[in-house]
Amino acid sequence: MNRQTRRTGTFIVTREHKRFVEFANTVRRNATIGLCHGRAGVGKTLSARRYAHWDRIEPLVTTWGKREDSDAKVYAASARARTLFYTAPVGGSISALRKDIQPYIMRLCICIDSHENPEWTGRHSTPLGPIELVIVDEAERLTMTGLEFLRDLFDHSDAGLILIGMPGIEKRMAQYPQLYSRIGFVHEYPSLSQDEMQFDLQRRWRKLGFGLDDADFTDARAAAAIIRLTAGNFQLLQRLFMQIERIARINEIAAITKDVVEAAAQTLVIGNAN
Ligand SMILES: Nc1ncnc2c1ncn2[C@@H]1O[C@H](COP(=O)(O)OP(=O)(O)O)[C@@H](O)[C@H]1O
Ligand SMILES: [Mg+2]
Repeated sequence: MNRQTRRTGTFIVTREHKRFVEFANTVRRNATIGLCHGRAGVGKTLSARRYAHWDRIEPLVTTWGKREDSDAKVYAASARARTLFYTAPVGGSISALRKDIQPYIMRLCICIDSHENPEWTGRHSTPLGPIELVIVDEAERLTMTGLEFLRDLFDHSDAGLILIGMPGIEKRMAQYPQLYSRIGFVHEYPSLSQDEMQFDLQRRWRKLGFGLDDADFTDARAAAAIIRLTAGNFQLLQRLFMQIERIARINEIAAITKDVVEAAAQTLVIGNAN
């Protein structure tokens, strides 16, 4: 499983994230299959990890070492989330996928049980036990047999399944009627809206020690340039701001102007790839 070790800064609870939470809750409540697609960098992975409390749970279920007192907190988080977040392996065969995901399922079940029923040593009657939702990220990596394996897992449990992928994944899935017929909901993860961008900019501006003043023409032009260049893409925004910060620091700049933004953008490869 891919581990997200890179620091991503503060998580912002955006409207897009709230919509994802609603979608995930619906899929789970209906124990169906949900498909979530959206352009690269809009925040799909972070939303899903957040929903699953994965930053807290992942270290334990990945290393699975000696138990510590602090694990109780992880057990509690897993019992609250009851969600497995799993990143599909690159080009994984069905046996590789099974070998890869099975330990996570088992360990997450143990975590949930440890919180709710520590004395209990019985077996679960379904392969996912107390897990109510499985979220598979980067689902376009899955081969047909990989998808088949997940469908089988889904069919033998009462859990929901969410497949996250890039735009176009919904068309690819249509080629697998066995799976496609089970899809209950399709959710498009949208780009950040204008006002969310504005809100995010304000926060970042402040962090750099500047104020973003709507009434100030220079600020407004700089903000407009950023919004245009990043087009609601969180990842680009993050990268652009790293450069703005660097340029502002090197040049001891007192305000973020449109020129600074454009200079920063030039150091990035901002294509129209997505
Ligand atoms: N809700 C959020 N709050 C703060 N930063 C975010 C948020 N969502 C995404 N980001 C930023 O955007 C980057 C890309 O997000 P990610 O979830 O990996 O996108 P996707 O999976 O859609 O390609 C993250 O690494 C992070 O820097
Ligand atoms: Mg992603």
